[in-house]
Amino acid sequence: MAMWFRNSDDAWGSVARGFHWLIAALVIAQFLIGNVAEEMKLTPAKLDLFVWHKSIGVTVLVLAVLRLAWRFGNPPPAPPAGTPAWERRLGALVHWVLYALIFIVPLSGWWVSDASRVPFRAYFLVPMPDLIATDRGLQEAAAEVHEALTIILLCVAIVHIAAALRHHFLLHDDVLRRMLTGRSSKE
Ligand code: HEM
Ligand code: HEM
Repeated sequence: MAMWFRNSDDAWGSVARGFHWLIAALVIAQFLIGNVAEEMKLTPAKLDLFVWHKSIGVTVLVLAVLRLAWRFGNPPPAPPAGTPAWERRLGALVHWVLYALIFIVPLSGWWVSDASRVPFRAYFLVPMPDLIATDRGLQEAAAEVHEALTIILLCVAIVHIAAALRHHFLLHDDVLRRMLTGRSSKE
């Protein structure tokens, strides 16, 4: 019998689903927090909001490491029977780009923070290593990179969400349902 926390041939286990939806929720929150914080006047509230933004972002990075490790030990369920080869390849490609981005986007943000002169304690508690010297020019360049990467993430996530909705509403298959419930209608 399949174990509920592991993936099976046609269903996602609870651990993979937990990582997926937790990271998705945090990434969406990060877009809102990042943009709101960016627009604020320089006040203590703005600096606090950035501490939250950075802390949640570092959390996404830690979750990404754990998720990828779990992924290597847990092959995903197969796409619905009859999915054309090009669609399987495109789906796999988009998923690996998303995996890459949940590492690169937080790392680029950390780079901005590290080049700035603002010391950063995750959740106001855990001091983060200061790896590079304060450099205003580098900070601005890193901020451009971080912003560009977040826009790429946004675009790829929109394609990803559109694909999930297409599976559910147009193809009437289990792809979205099994990520939500962990069950496939074949069981
Ligand atoms: C899932 C991870 C993350 C997402 C989706 C994200 C998203 C964003 C967004 C949408 C903005 C506003 C874009 C702009 O107009 O510049 C932003 C800004 C910023 N983020 Fe992140 N971020 C993430 C992680 C991090 C992390 C881990 C840090 C630092 C440890 C960080 C530090 C910053 C900083 C310092 C800015 C302001 C950049 C500037 O000065 O323009 N971010 N982020
Ligand atoms: C409301 C938003 C989202 C929906 C509806 C959604 C839906 C789905 C679904 C249905 C799958 C399963 C695909 C399959 O069975 O082959 C999936 C997989 C995946 N999703 Fe999402 N997703 C969302 C947001 C996100 C976000 C924000 C990220 C990352 C930034 C993400 C990253 C991934 C990855 C990497 C996989 C592949 C898992 C694997 O093969 O190991 N998703 N998503």
